[in-house]
Amino acid sequence: MINEFLFESRTELLAQLEQAMLAQVEAVLAEQGAASLLLSGGSTPGPVYEALGQSLNDKVQIALVDDRWVDLDHKGSNQALLQRCFPRHAITGMKTADSTPQAAVGAVNAAYDKLAQPFALTLLGMGPDGHTASLFPHAIGLAQALAPDAPLCAAISAHRSEVTGELVDRMTLSLAGILNSRKLILLITGQDKLAVYRKALAATDRSAMPVAAVLQQQDVDVDVYWAE
Ligand code: 6PG
Repeated sequence: MINEFLFESRTELLAQLEQAMLAQVEAVLAEQGAASLLLSGGSTPGPVYEALGQSLNDKVQIALVDDRWVDLDHKGSNQALLQRCFPRHAITGMKTADSTPQAAVGAVNAAYDKLAQPFALTLLGMGPDGHTASLFPHAIGLAQALAPDAPLCAAISAHRSEVTGELVDRMTLSLAGILNSRKLILLITGQDKLAVYRKALAATDRSAMPVAAVLQQQDVDVDVYWAE
């Protein structure tokens, strides 16, 4: 089921989102004794991560939803973004010394299998091309990443686009990995992404709009947070 939370301002959205995320991980921590928080990269969630970095219980395990296949010192590293925002937490990352994500997928899955599961909360973004995590349209590895029996993490080589830039090699949660969550939140802003979101709700080709695979499934509720 989709629950839409539409806000008048990003300030109000971010304040509500921080509280909702804290409430979810604290509830799971109290219930299960452990909680994992899976976070996407990109530019939109930065302000809520900075706020959470001060307020999040340091027992919560933080891991990446996806990352570009770049080292920590690269400006495109999602792990570096999370390390900056969550200085009190050890971040379970995806990037390894392997030259390609395909070579690393077994080791990354072994690390992710150790996370508290199901994940307490997974925060997703969405690109204007209808990707979420690093599930990019028609990407190499996408069919495997969308398969119901996929492991938690999958290697992707996207087709280069304005959205991907030159960072086409990615590691990402698979659809099964994303759905291995107690709660899903999709964070989007602006009219363009709202239109893409609405289009994805009715999309019939999830290879062309991978976010549709998340929005159209019935197993895990998706809370959609949007502001202008
Ligand atoms: C990434 C993200 C990606 C992101 C969307 C939205 O590695 O880029 O994980 O899935 O969530 O591209 O990014 P923006 O918030 O920057 O629009």
